[in-house]
Amino acid sequence: MFINGDFSKIDVGTVDAIITDPPYAREYWYLYKNLGDLAERCLKDQGWLLAIVPQYGLVETISMVSRPNLRQWWCSAMVMPEPPHARMRLKGMIVKWKPICVWLKGNWTGKLGYRPDMFLNNPPEQNQHPQGWEQSIDWARYCVANFSREGDTVLDPMMGVGTIGIACRELNRNFIGIEIDKKTCEIAAAVAQR
Ligand SMILES: C[S@@+](CC[C@H](N)C(=O)[O-])C[C@H]1O[C@@H](n2cnc3c(N)ncnc32)[C@H](O)[C@@H]1O
Repeated sequence: MFINGDFSKIDVGTVDAIITDPPYAREYWYLYKNLGDLAERCLKDQGWLLAIVPQYGLVETISMVSRPNLRQWWCSAMVMPEPPHARMRLKGMIVKWKPICVWLKGNWTGKLGYRPDMFLNNPPEQNQHPQGWEQSIDWARYCVANFSREGDTVLDPMMGVGTIGIACRELNRNFIGIEIDKKTCEIAAAVAQR
């Protein structure tokens, strides 16, 4: 299901996992606070929230999401061995990895199992996002496969062109995607038809 709108104003009922990739620029960091609020409202107990966080704002963005019932659990690494690598001119850094932060709602009581905290990422084959913000299917598969189960409902509240939705289809999860930009939302719907 694809919804065009602002995730902070949309009620999606209860979901099993939230996996997303917010814009990282400082002016968008308030979205991490809204993401924590969203997880409080709609994430089921013992559900995972995953979000890519900016290296230069780890403390700030992780703090904005975290709260007593939504604690940071881990931070995984998306390693990008192959070019092209983005360059952060203002920081003088070449970006060869990205942090994926993991939060758990409530307390884990079942069997935990093991999951890897690093994966190798290939760039997306084509970048269909109007701002060039599309993530790879490797990222989506890692998150969906390791932090949800078959039959679960996964929400991406900032879905872009819907990469998490593609992994959900492959891995037999239900998907709800929200995107504020109408054109980007239409691209996501078209990509899902292929
Ligand atoms: C980094 S991109 C996500 C890219 C996505 N992972 C993909 O592979 O296409 C972040 C997206 O969040 C959307 N966005 C920003 N604020 C939003 C909001 N309040 N509600 C819903 N979507 C939002 C932007 O329009 C943008 O498409």
